[in-house]
Amino acid sequence: MIALRDIHKAFGPKKVLRGVSMEVERGTSVSVMGGSGAGKSVLIKHIVQLLKPDQGEVWVKGQRLDLLDDDALDAMRLHIGYLFQGGALFDSMTVFQNLDFLLDRHTPLDKKERRERIEETLAWVNLRDKAPQYPAELSGGQKKRIGLARAIILEPEILLYDEPTTGLDPISVRTVADIIVRLRDERGITSVAITHDLLCADIITDNAYFLYQGEIIASGTMETLRRSPHPELRNFFGT
Ligand SMILES: Nc1ncnc2c1ncn2[C@@H]1O[C@H](COP(=O)(O)OP(=O)(O)O)[C@@H](O)[C@H]1O
Ligand SMILES: [Mg+2]
Repeated sequence: MIALRDIHKAFGPKKVLRGVSMEVERGTSVSVMGGSGAGKSVLIKHIVQLLKPDQGEVWVKGQRLDLLDDDALDAMRLHIGYLFQGGALFDSMTVFQNLDFLLDRHTPLDKKERRERIEETLAWVNLRDKAPQYPAELSGGQKKRIGLARAIILEPEILLYDEPTTGLDPISVRTVADIIVRLRDERGITSVAITHDLLCADIITDNAYFLYQGEIIASGTMETLRRSPHPELRNFFGT
């Protein structure tokens, strides 16, 4: 479903990705782990081409994304939901307006259909009653879930999560992680999540990649990563 092949990316003299390859099977949940500044966000931005590789190939649904023109890329992006680290909500709009804005812009749905889709999506993240609220009125965990509602409202086949649970208390972490699992199991969504939250990773991960200084130094199940003798992984897992 998604494949990155030998991606290199530098900003000026700073080499952030040094030949990263990864593969994501349809309907599975992949986690990208690693310390702060390892290049995780830079890596997943390549999957939607928010960043272009200096070298390497980006494949999504059988197409070379890095070779598509802007129109073809826009069409492809509608299949990909992105949960940004900050949630990407407009503070001046209510939850309802934030979601309606996207539907109005990207779908042919009429007003009544949009309202139904919004209610259905808010039910998915268990926050139906928050439609009239402004983002500032929500807790951290609720904001993440509304960010998630925003990412799934166009019904993408692929979801990218940038630190979906960072900064949340353990109960909120479980709530968000459980929604991610349900999206995979009930909607068949293929996902890539950046996380350094082990509680979350243990719940959502089918297959993980560990990024260190712009290179994948380990991959496999969480169990495989935990057993790695590599000092960086031992440090990360506290073993
Ligand atoms: N647009 C950019 N311009 C220059 N440097 C960047 C840019 N985006 C990220 N970087 C640098 O790339 C490195 C990796 O960043 P990032 O992928 O955000 O790390 P993380 O693994 O914490 O998500 C950092 O040193 C960061 O400063
Ligand atoms: Mg990041």
